[in-house]
Amino acid sequence: MEVVIAPAEELARLAADAIENLVRSKPDAVLGLATGSSPLKVYDELARRHTESGLSFAGARAFMLDEYVGLPAEHPERYRNVIEKEIASRVDFAPGAVQGPDGLADDLPAACAAYEAAIADAGGVDLQILGIGTDGHIAFNEPGSSLASRTRIKTLTQQTREDNARFFEDDIDRVPHHCLTQGLATIMSARHLVLLATGKGKAEAVHQLTEGAVSALWPATIMQLHPHATVLVDDAAASRLQ
Ligand code: F6R
Repeated sequence: MEVVIAPAEELARLAADAIENLVRSKPDAVLGLATGSSPLKVYDELARRHTESGLSFAGARAFMLDEYVGLPAEHPERYRNVIEKEIASRVDFAPGAVQGPDGLADDLPAACAAYEAAIADAGGVDLQILGIGTDGHIAFNEPGSSLASRTRIKTLTQQTREDNARFFEDDIDRVPHHCLTQGLATIMSARHLVLLATGKGKAEAVHQLTEGAVSALWPATIMQLHPHATVLVDDAAASRLQ
């Protein structure tokens, strides 16, 4: 695991460099996209490079990490809509090239299985962007998640619902209770993991991620077993590293 400590803008450039190098050398690359605040500067940088230097995603595909269950199709916080707004609509992915788990499906377990099959059919994810929760989750694999898990329905913890209330007018009652999320084994199947974390609130999770024992209690620690994992953190998020 490679850990880079730098200011947030530099971290975003480094993550964008990794994506640009991949897409320029493999135009039909498969990307893994995260929502939340951590990747926003990366998406800004990719959109800028698309506009200013012709970085193209026309042949690429992307798979989202997770989705809330039951948010109406037009809800602005539905992750499909967030990804559309933050990155997909700002670059040139082909129609249908960005996919996410279907949190509105009648048969959610079938939707999870179909999502796993779609990722496999695409040849797997080349580069997965990740954030980390204050409780050490990646995607929505909350503490206690099986290290061997695949895409499935999960219940969000109180901590995560509190953390995400900021996206729902600071009203925790508006935050869904359930989500569909790629599992830890799904994420580990990606060929390169790039995790971004900034701010003091992430310091304990980053400490556990890089220096703790591999454990389902801190799900991100599974990344220690990945052959190509890059952890990009600012000074505040690195403040508990030894
Ligand atoms: C989002 C996701 C989550 C977030 C994590 C950190 O798709 O999978 O694991 O990455 O909750 O969220 P932020 O970046 O908002 O601090």
